[in-house]
Amino acid sequence: MDRAAARCYLATMSDLSLTILAETANDAQAIERLHERTFGPGRFVLSAYRLREHVDHLLELSFTAWIGTLLVGSVRQLPVTIGDTSALLLGPLTVEPPFRGRGVGRALLERALKDAREKGHRLVLLVGDEAYYSRVGFKAVPKGRATMPGPVDYSRLLVAELVDGAFDGVSGPIRPDWSMAR
Ligand SMILES: CC(C)(COP(=O)(O)OP(=O)(O)OC[C@H]1O[C@@H](n2cnc3c(N)ncnc32)[C@H](O)[C@@H]1OP(=O)(O)O)[C@@H](O)C(=O)NCCC(=O)NCCS
Repeated sequence: MDRAAARCYLATMSDLSLTILAETANDAQAIERLHERTFGPGRFVLSAYRLREHVDHLLELSFTAWIGTLLVGSVRQLPVTIGDTSALLLGPLTVEPPFRGRGVGRALLERALKDAREKGHRLVLLVGDEAYYSRVGFKAVPKGRATMPGPVDYSRLLVAELVDGAFDGVSGPIRPDWSMAR
């Protein structure tokens, strides 16, 4: 989106409500472009992408944010395991730059966590800034409890319990959920 178009949308944004929808196959290209603009080609070497190589994200637990017909944000969730325990890996979470700081990211996160809980998931992991994600219940994974399949800054490995105590006794390597491999 060019700057003029963004200004135009921002000017009218207070009149247009934000809609959060489950991702569909038709959204793939627009989301890919958003990821490319946000993270660049370096994203493919991140450890989280190593998990995404083998298993598709769950469309019904991945969400898009829309203002009118404009896609302004996306969040995805992927099935993984921590040791023998099932979990979701949340990310990437991305909001179009002109629309940041207006609650779009939070709305996407809240919907992703709510629907995950309703579908019986108990744990969600991510790699990100605790200062941001603690607002929706994520905490740092205690050192050594879970390992990613590649280099990662472990102070950024976070977990949210969707059910109280769900992370108690859970430990081990984080792997794709092979039962859902493509
Ligand atoms: C991170 C991101 C998704 C937040 O989306 P957003 O729609 O701007 O988020 P919200 O409007 O819900 O929240 C904005 C608040 O979070 C704060 N915030 C944003 N990123 C933050 C971070 N990395 N650490 C701490 N606080 C952060 C903002 O300062 C703002 O604070 P305020 O409410 O006190 O003013 C968005 O900035 C983005 O796409 N960034 C680039 C991609 C990225 O870093 N994704 C996360 C990696 S997994």
